[in-house]
Amino acid sequence: MSTSTAPGYLRLIGFSGTNKVMAGELSRLTTRAGISHCLPEPRKDGLGSLVYPFDPHIAALAVRYHRTSTRVLWDLYESRATRLEPLYDDLVRQIRDDDRGWGQSGYGISVTTHGVQEFAAGERQIVGTVKNALIDGSKQRQVTFHVNPNAPDLWFDVRLRDQVLAVSIDLAGRPMSQRGYRRIGGVAPLNESLAAVLVMLSRHQPRTEPLVDPMAGSGTIAIEAACMGRATPVWVAPRTAACEKLPALRSLMTEMPSPLFPDTQPIVIANELTEAAHSLCKEHVSKAGASAYVHSLQGDFRHLDPRSIFTICRQRGNQSPRGLILTNPPYGERLKTDKLQTLYRDLGQWCRQFRGWKAAFLIANPNFVDAFGGRPRIVKPLSNANLRSSFVLYDL
Ligand SMILES: C[S@@+](CC[C@H](N)C(=O)[O-])C[C@H]1O[C@@H](n2cnc3c(N)ncnc32)[C@H](O)[C@@H]1O
Repeated sequence: MSTSTAPGYLRLIGFSGTNKVMAGELSRLTTRAGISHCLPEPRKDGLGSLVYPFDPHIAALAVRYHRTSTRVLWDLYESRATRLEPLYDDLVRQIRDDDRGWGQSGYGISVTTHGVQEFAAGERQIVGTVKNALIDGSKQRQVTFHVNPNAPDLWFDVRLRDQVLAVSIDLAGRPMSQRGYRRIGGVAPLNESLAAVLVMLSRHQPRTEPLVDPMAGSGTIAIEAACMGRATPVWVAPRTAACEKLPALRSLMTEMPSPLFPDTQPIVIANELTEAAHSLCKEHVSKAGASAYVHSLQGDFRHLDPRSIFTICRQRGNQSPRGLILTNPPYGERLKTDKLQTLYRDLGQWCRQFRGWKAAFLIANPNFVDAFGGRPRIVKPLSNANLRSSFVLYDL
């Protein structure tokens, strides 16, 4: 009797505290793609990790469109071995017996570890052992791989969780945040996946609500809001997801439409003070293919008359009394405390001209809430590049 290997798991990894947001986004995507019946409730594995039974259609959808996750993994093997030799034996046995056909002869592989400090061997030894097991186990199935850390076809990810070592394929081959629209070496920008989290936490309604970022920097929030509203693919050409080479997913990846919500026409306004960041913002918007939806302005938001924003919205056919202000204001790395207090106070006064709208912020300065004025309806801790930050949302 022939047995077949269980499909494994699809794992979405994200920022701590974003499980609900990641699940919500995937659910929206599967509904639109007509495959929501394939999506069970996920298992939460920590504060920023969701696990689903592996389904190639859902996996392809996630790696192509899912903006709030930082990694999309296919969990293939697990081992409870606590030393290298038993780990090798355990993995070779599983790989030899694996009939999922995830690889192809001639492919180069690379292996990266995350959080394996508690294993009784160094990272390089773990990497070497897993590589050898992948190559030797596959050879027994007549599939030959070679090591190619610089330009691999398959990226393997090794993580230790609750004393279980998990070996997965990183379906994107890189962090999901590296979409491909950002120029390296610009101003210190917000992580793209975190910007997408902020848009989801604000419950932005892209069909009806204009979104304004008054301190847009290089435009990450504006771009993510526009692209998420239309569910455009995460990857900007020539960047592609690694799994376009995976036999199990490659045809699914190229069949999917772009974007998933072509009839949504978001209205996004990105305002920025400095010329340098403003021109970077325009460059990023254009590279992300979002120029038709993101209107870039330059100047101090204090001089930005809400009536000019309402005019832009009207010209684009939007008369909604509701909208969303969303930004991550400076938190104090360059500005003195009294200037920051004034900035936050002025921001509060400026926002309160938008009656009936929501205003949401990623803040990392404890003085923000007092200076802004009023009481936020939502306060949620979120980490941002090792800064203790919070998401706050006000009804204006
Ligand atoms: C933390 S950064 C925003 C980063 C942005 N989210 C990105 O991804 O690039 C804050 C931005 O606010 C801008 N800024 C500061 N004061 C401003 C003001 N009064 N009006 C408009 N923009 C301002 C700064 O120039 C900076 O680009």
